[in-house]
Amino acid sequence: MGPKSLAVIGGTGALGRGLALRALRHGLKVCIGSREAGRARATAEELRREVAGAEVTGASNAEAAAAGEVIAVTVPFASQQGTLQAIREAAQGKIVIDATVPLIPPRVARVQLPPEGCAAVRAQNELGPDVRVVSALHTVAATRLGSDASAQELGDVLVFGDDKASREVVVALLSQMDLAAFHGGSLANSAAAEALTSVLIFVNKHYGADHAGLRLIGVEARRSG
Ligand SMILES: NC(=O)c1ccc[n+]([C@@H]2O[C@H](COP(=O)([O-])OP(=O)(O)OC[C@H]3O[C@@H](n4cnc5c(N)ncnc54)[C@H](OP(=O)(O)O)[C@@H]3O)[C@@H](O)[C@H]2O)c1
Repeated sequence: MGPKSLAVIGGTGALGRGLALRALRHGLKVCIGSREAGRARATAEELRREVAGAEVTGASNAEAAAAGEVIAVTVPFASQQGTLQAIREAAQGKIVIDATVPLIPPRVARVQLPPEGCAAVRAQNELGPDVRVVSALHTVAATRLGSDASAQELGDVLVFGDDKASREVVVALLSQMDLAAFHGGSLANSAAAEALTSVLIFVNKHYGADHAGLRLIGVEARRSG
């Protein structure tokens, strides 16, 4: 049986809100986390109005992390480390889905990976060996994630993690939310998807688009959505 509840750290923002909406529409219980618990509660209230019957609450990041069976981290790269420190204790023994892309303004359309190789490895280093970090969602547009767009419209999602069983849990969880999730290998491989996000930002700018995404070929039989 897969996880039934998800904590979304930074769930007041674009990606976190979109992920929370999608999770709620597919029957998961969600706890929104924020640096300000009041802001998280206000977002939870908005989401409750958008999704009939939604089980959603809001809390501080640490409280939300304690409440979720699985934790998703959706915060800007500049605040990744500070945010992870705030949830480190509550995250021990859990799966943390990290969606951080190392974007360094103003040049967000240029690949700028951190010294650790990628943001996902940085997250694992910060949280320690008893947290199973899995990274995902880098190439999905936040606005679309929160809509009722199909898996095909959203594009494929690559999922990375050093613990194969945890990666499988996240692939299944995202598939449950009607996302086409694919195993992408070790956490170090997350560098490829994190880098691709800057490329997609460039593509969006160049072609006047707003949700350029990724589509794998040759593995259609495995596409769930
Ligand atoms: N947007 C996308 O389409 C997209 C797609 C793929 C991946 N990503 C990645 O997902 C992460 C979140 O992206 P986003 O667009 O959702 O970001 P965002 O809306 O700018 O921020 C998300 C949340 O992070 C929290 N936060 C914590 N520290 C912060 C700080 N110093 N400055 C600003 N906000 C801070 C804020 O919540 P509180 O103030 O409530 O604490 C905010 O609501 C990023 O790493 C991004 O690269 C985004």
